[in-house]
Amino acid sequence: MEFPVKTGAPARHRTECAILPVFDDRQLHGATKDFDRAARGAIAKLVRSGDAPSRLGTCTLVHRTQGTAAARWLLVGCGKRADFTAKRLTTALGAALHALRTGATKEAVSFLGYDAPFGAAEVARHSVETARSSLYRFDELKSRTDPPARLTRLALAVKSGADVGAVRAGIKVGSAIASGSNLARDLGNRPANVCTPSHLADAARSIAKRYDRMDVEVLDEAGMRKLGMGALLSVTQGAHEPPRLIVLKYRGAPAKEAPIVLCGKGVTFDTGGISIKPAAKMDEMKFDMCGAGSVLGAMLALGELQPAVNVVGVIPACENMPGGRATRPGDIVTSLSGQTVEIINTDAEGRLILCDAITYAKRFKPRCIIDVATLTGACVVALGHVYTGLFSNDESLAKALLEAADRSLDLAWRLPVHEEYGESLRSNFADFANSGTRDGGASVGANFLSRFVDGLAWAHLDIAGVAWRAAANKGATGRPVPLLVDYLLNLDGQ
Ligand code: BES
Ligand code: MN
Ligand code: ZN
Repeated sequence: MEFPVKTGAPARHRTECAILPVFDDRQLHGATKDFDRAARGAIAKLVRSGDAPSRLGTCTLVHRTQGTAAARWLLVGCGKRADFTAKRLTTALGAALHALRTGATKEAVSFLGYDAPFGAAEVARHSVETARSSLYRFDELKSRTDPPARLTRLALAVKSGADVGAVRAGIKVGSAIASGSNLARDLGNRPANVCTPSHLADAARSIAKRYDRMDVEVLDEAGMRKLGMGALLSVTQGAHEPPRLIVLKYRGAPAKEAPIVLCGKGVTFDTGGISIKPAAKMDEMKFDMCGAGSVLGAMLALGELQPAVNVVGVIPACENMPGGRATRPGDIVTSLSGQTVEIINTDAEGRLILCDAITYAKRFKPRCIIDVATLTGACVVALGHVYTGLFSNDESLAKALLEAADRSLDLAWRLPVHEEYGESLRSNFADFANSGTRDGGASVGANFLSRFVDGLAWAHLDIAGVAWRAAANKGATGRPVPLLVDYLLNLDGQ
């Protein structure tokens, strides 16, 4: 998809379709007003008749566009003008593209952000992300596919020529985030018999091959054993599919600058192990590698944008299967940190692979570690499918991530990691257990991970509720790639 930038008088743009905002105040504003003037009041007449949409996300396609150079107008309801946020812009644009999906339009111009009360670069970035994400399809495993979308060009109309540079920069960031999100979605949507730990390693290798400043290293089971990753190995031992520890490095700054480490949970299928899960919705546990997918997606975006930071992606990848060799509840393992863990519940496997990945990450002397994981059902209960759960031992890291979440429209909400959440992890037989009370389960999981970060600035993103959608629109979302990339692009001055 192409995103040209257009300046000049709105109604003079030659296009197959002008996408125009209509607010619910019965007044016309910005570009829509310009179109109305050129069309001698035709839009105002539609508004008066009650046929123009105004509720957010409703659309009306108009063909009688005399006086303007657009062959069609797509009037898009944008709700209350005072409430028009970047988030609402994405809802309106998503609805507009959905409405054009089945039509003949190959090219359109969006005026939705033309007069918006927020920055032109922000409009551009979110418009590109929304367009690329609304065109996303996962049909690589279907033998019969729909024809590809006709719309291949979405021009962004910009009011002031002075904004063009910022808009182009916004388009570049939006494109990189969209590519990263779409990679994360592809990896998430692929079933576990395709998206194996080795498949994730291949995805990392192909990213590394594309960019000079990227290097990859992949450890196999023997390598993990040599290091002493007893916690990670206990999760994979019931599976036939071989595990991988993927290390993908991006060098954007001098080597002396401490890197940010991103750790992504890569459980390519989570049956629960011997503590097996019920059958209902178990297919969704192919998405249990979405943390890994989002780290790979963020790394891809870094390759595209080449910011001056060092980032290391560390991805522990394996399956969690039952079987004759699988870990039994009650087994005790020694983690890479030397701490011993009693595995009370083999379904609390994410923390077991992440704790060894976090310990491994310390060798890079990182400035901070951010892990991303579909860690707990409890986080879904707490925050639903709207917010990522953010846990951190460091105020400025937490603040930076929350700000990145707001800017990127990829929301996160802070939850506590107080030490009292660790009380139920007490074990009579090992240093501590891998699972405790269900109550406050997301914080219990975070508390477990916090025992491996000793002193480093660390944040944990529990994406169990946001990494995929269920029901009719079942599929990976690509979250939290936008949040991660925004955070990494805004590190200057922190
Ligand atoms: N991958 C799951 C968490 C999950 C469950 C994410 C449902 C999204 C939807 C994780 O490995 C898990 O099974 N967690 C357990 C932890 C418990 C045994 C302490 C859970 O949340 O039930
Ligand atoms: Mn599990
Ligand atoms: Zn899991």
